[in-house]
Amino acid sequence: MKTQATDQYIDEIKRLKAQKNAIILAHYYQTGDIQDIADFVGDSLALSQKAASNSADIILFAGVRFMAETAKILAPEKKVLLPDLNAGCSLANSCKASDFEKFLKENPGRTVISYVNTNAEIKALSDIICTSSNAVQIVESLPPEEKILFAPDRNLGNYVLNKTGRDMVIWNGTCHVHEEFSLEAIIRLKRENPDAKIIVHPECELPVRMVADFIGSTSSLLQFTKKDTGNCYIVATEAGIIHQMKKANPSKSYIPAPPIDSTCGCSECSFMKLITIEKILNCLKNERPEINIEKEILIRAQRPIMRMMEISEKLGL
Ligand code: 13P
Ligand code: SF4
Repeated sequence: MKTQATDQYIDEIKRLKAQKNAIILAHYYQTGDIQDIADFVGDSLALSQKAASNSADIILFAGVRFMAETAKILAPEKKVLLPDLNAGCSLANSCKASDFEKFLKENPGRTVISYVNTNAEIKALSDIICTSSNAVQIVESLPPEEKILFAPDRNLGNYVLNKTGRDMVIWNGTCHVHEEFSLEAIIRLKRENPDAKIIVHPECELPVRMVADFIGSTSSLLQFTKKDTGNCYIVATEAGIIHQMKKANPSKSYIPAPPIDSTCGCSECSFMKLITIEKILNCLKNERPEINIEKEILIRAQRPIMRMMEISEKLGL
């Protein structure tokens, strides 16, 4: 619920944005109030594309650290701010650079495709970056005989492997939100709402993907609900996306898929939800916390991200 204080914060954020030539980029997993004050809301791919092409001096990232780092790598001349440096990611945390280097040595001769949900050091060790919006197409853009090493999400990796049939070795990482959805609860909801379509992010575990009517990245799920003729959806991804679904089609129903442990609120990403309107205001005011990346890592991480951007542009993604 919006309070008078929040309204004041929002007015002040608008004033500071104009004064400092700053923009706010927000991921779909942010709370609705943050999505509504952002200059641009999108999934990981769209946010990277926007970070690479805008005329602002300051990018304030309402999202998590790997996203803000990606923006800094794509626009090193800009000041990139993240309102809370603790906004990490369980998936990115599951892949530490020293362990990853060891994994690369154990699996030589493979093209290394890393999901954007990695820290900058992992990107610097990769050949191409992908997001859930383009992972299948990036793999398919490589010659069929090319051997691939995919990291860090095992579920997205297996989804891509099943779609493409390529020779892939996959890192065993997961997202704490997407691996937690309860198949039993989803089936019960489907029984109670027989017309509902089950829509699922590819970071979900195989049993949940198997009951899906549609699988896709955050933005694909949103597009699906916009174009589909149905009226009710069981949504197996972070619940923040439902804000945009409701805005686009308020007359349809959207049921967030529940997690296995209903006391943990896992259908919300605790890292994403660390960002608040108040923290955004303070961050914009003080121009801190700022994202800085060691120069050598930043330069090495640019090439694989640019390869993703070029392939995506060529494919019209
Ligand atoms: P997309 O934005 O690519 O759908 O990724 C989902 C996610 O988990 C981001 O943290
Ligand atoms: Fe990371 Fe999962 Fe949160 Fe996305 S939803 S930021 S993958 S922990």
